[in-house]
Amino acid sequence: AETINYNFNIVNANLAPDGFSRSTVVVNGQFPGSLISANKGDTVNVLVQNNLTDPTMRRSTSIHWHGLFQARNAHNDGPAFVTQCPIAPNHTYTYGLNLGNQTGTYWYHSHLSSQYLDGLRGPIVNPEDPNLGLYDVDDESTLIILGDWFHTLAPELEAQYKLATNTASVEELPQSGTINGVGRTSTDPQPARPTFTVNSGQRYRYRIINTSAIARFTFQIQGHSLTIIEVDGVATAPLAVDNLIIHPGQRYSVVVQANQPVDNYWIRAPMTARAVPPVPPNWATDSNNVNAVLHYVGAAGAEPTSEIPAISGTPLVESNLVPLTDPAAPGSPFPGGVDKVFNLTFKTGEDPVTGHGWRVNDVQYIPPTTPTLLKILSGAHDPSDFGTNENTLIINRGDTVEVNIFGPRDHPWHLHGHTFSVVKGASGVTNYVNPPRRDVTPSNGNGGITIRFTADNPGPWVLHCHIDMHFEAGLAVVFAEAPTEVVSGPDSVDPGDDWDALCPIYNALP
Ligand code: C2O
Repeated sequence: AETINYNFNIVNANLAPDGFSRSTVVVNGQFPGSLISANKGDTVNVLVQNNLTDPTMRRSTSIHWHGLFQARNAHNDGPAFVTQCPIAPNHTYTYGLNLGNQTGTYWYHSHLSSQYLDGLRGPIVNPEDPNLGLYDVDDESTLIILGDWFHTLAPELEAQYKLATNTASVEELPQSGTINGVGRTSTDPQPARPTFTVNSGQRYRYRIINTSAIARFTFQIQGHSLTIIEVDGVATAPLAVDNLIIHPGQRYSVVVQANQPVDNYWIRAPMTARAVPPVPPNWATDSNNVNAVLHYVGAAGAEPTSEIPAISGTPLVESNLVPLTDPAAPGSPFPGGVDKVFNLTFKTGEDPVTGHGWRVNDVQYIPPTTPTLLKILSGAHDPSDFGTNENTLIINRGDTVEVNIFGPRDHPWHLHGHTFSVVKGASGVTNYVNPPRRDVTPSNGNGGITIRFTADNPGPWVLHCHIDMHFEAGLAVVFAEAPTEVVSGPDSVDPGDDWDALCPIYNALP
């Protein structure tokens, strides 16, 4: 095991991922941000230097390492006001990441309001693969980072979204979808399409990450099947499909065999968000125009000569995913039954004070000004120790927790600090034996979905909708897991950082 140090300089940069230039919030001037690559057991330190200056955007920041459990390390999880105070402008914070036993594909993003919409998103990979014997791969270096892109800055979108006179049906849609930071609209200059080069006869592991703030993508490679081997960092029995829907926050690794005639093939990732009025001009066209090229070495030209094909063939059905190596679930995942059940019903609504928002069991999540972790470290461990709008639910060490989530479909629910078993997913299929295991799964209307996890990681962990604007508008709860066992905070671990001092600074910012 090694110690690996990264420098993240968080800056505003004018970028034009889809041909339209705008101010962004990005890591080291890049969209997507630089790759973090580490192996099991490595210690990774990420020095975040907040050099944000654009007064029209949020100038503080905070970064979440999506999918990493951060065991005994909750203070480095990143969600602002849950585990830390935002990093104020001209301040630094060093995140210590420990990959523990995790191998697979993860990502990082800003977790302060809806700031990641402005660009602060990037990949994390642990390239070690304990299951290589199950499939042959000649090359596993390819990342396919999908993400929606907006032309309006996040603070302005938030303000529009939260107007009390707004209704659930008015939600700004992204202007384009990007693949590895490149997209197209029908009206802006059109950057060259991303190209993935293969050698005939070789097999490739492609890691697909959806870093969207709202949109899901349907992914397909013309003429090539996709063998799924990893789902949100969980090794999964190889499953061949022709296309798959990937929701915001989700990841898949697929094996692609370059077994077709030497040529160029379309890689397609049409984008879907709730397309309701008012639909921006060109939305339908632009949302379909998310394409890249699979280029065989030796093929003539840069793009296929064929027309861009429709999505077709066998789609992924989530309930068909079987995890291979879930240590919490050998055979039957929860033989002892369930210790604690939460029924969560979510819906949208207007409030004269807080405006248009989202509620879970009729309560809109509004972050406290003192982070939940600090409250826990100073003794909070009952529901009444937390404010009403903090939506804090207590769970005990070792409990098997079941969460039933009821509400409109296709909201991608994500849990921090854990993966969960999808014992009843959006398809309605129930499986208590070897259900899919992951960290983001979509809701399914009033039929509801059911997830289960083991409370083996003390700390405050958020469960929220990964549509960034919905999280910002209140669609979240926080599990205070084994609060009496949470003993490590920034002060006990990282005395050099001015973590405590940051909340007053942030709260005093305009
Ligand atoms: Cu990827 Cu709380 O988020």
